[in-house]
Amino acid sequence: MQKEAFDWVINRRRSNRSFDPAVAVPDDVIERSLQRAVLSPNSSNMQLWEFHWIKSEALKSKLTDYCLGQGAARTAKQLVVFVTRQDLWQKRARWNYDQIRQAIGDREPNKMEKRGLDYYGKLMPLIYRKDWLGLATLGRRTISFIMGLRKPFYRASGTADQRIMVHKSCGLAAQTFMLSIAAEGYDSCPMEGFDRVRVRKALGLPRGAEINMIIGVGMGTPAGTWGERKRVPFEEVVITHN
Ligand SMILES: Cc1cc2nc3c(=O)[nH]c(=O)nc-3n(C[C@H](O)[C@H](O)[C@H](O)COP(=O)(O)O)c2cc1C
Repeated sequence: MQKEAFDWVINRRRSNRSFDPAVAVPDDVIERSLQRAVLSPNSSNMQLWEFHWIKSEALKSKLTDYCLGQGAARTAKQLVVFVTRQDLWQKRARWNYDQIRQAIGDREPNKMEKRGLDYYGKLMPLIYRKDWLGLATLGRRTISFIMGLRKPFYRASGTADQRIMVHKSCGLAAQTFMLSIAAEGYDSCPMEGFDRVRVRKALGLPRGAEINMIIGVGMGTPAGTWGERKRVPFEEVVITHN
């Protein structure tokens, strides 16, 4: 039964670019979907993401413009911008560290807890640190290269890796959100076709924050899906290594 329900949600979720103007999307649908989105898997539970729910009509109209007038934004009843916050790594590492510390209280930490404290206290700074000269990257590259010569080693290195890390997690949250919208009986459309410079400015995002995608939500219409769902042959993308 659960898998049938899941199939229903997967099939229901289509990118729809033309939402029914007569059907509103209640706020609690968005609220619940964002509550589900924050439960998405994310790298090291750092939660380097933010979800900007655009309720202001003036801002929505601005963003529609910045989404290049796309129907998915123009006809959307609700708009949510998924943002990565790589710049918050210290705060989030600290939060995770404190969670473990609080659980320990006054007693001695066990082996697992010690590892957790080292993970957020020492490893996260190694992975996320950035400096203008690129010395942190150089250090990471050198360590990865040397350590990787003899045995498998986690190859964290440059700023591109850091950006990929946060965008992966944010994309998963976006997917959870869209599946939730489908489960609630509404439709969505993810967008990367927008002017990121203007959207960043309109949202007042700080340096280090990036827009992952913008999602329009509404009640889809048949015209909005641009026809049947098409995928390249399954065998072309599923490679089995026996
Ligand atoms: C990261 C991302 C960005 C996308 N950007 C746009 C976009 O700017 N405009 C649009 O109409 N559709 C956009 N789409 C929707 C895709 O075109 C759509 O997911 C794809 O054609 C498959 O169709 P389906 O979602 O109905 O299964 C985007 C999808 C993703 C995942």
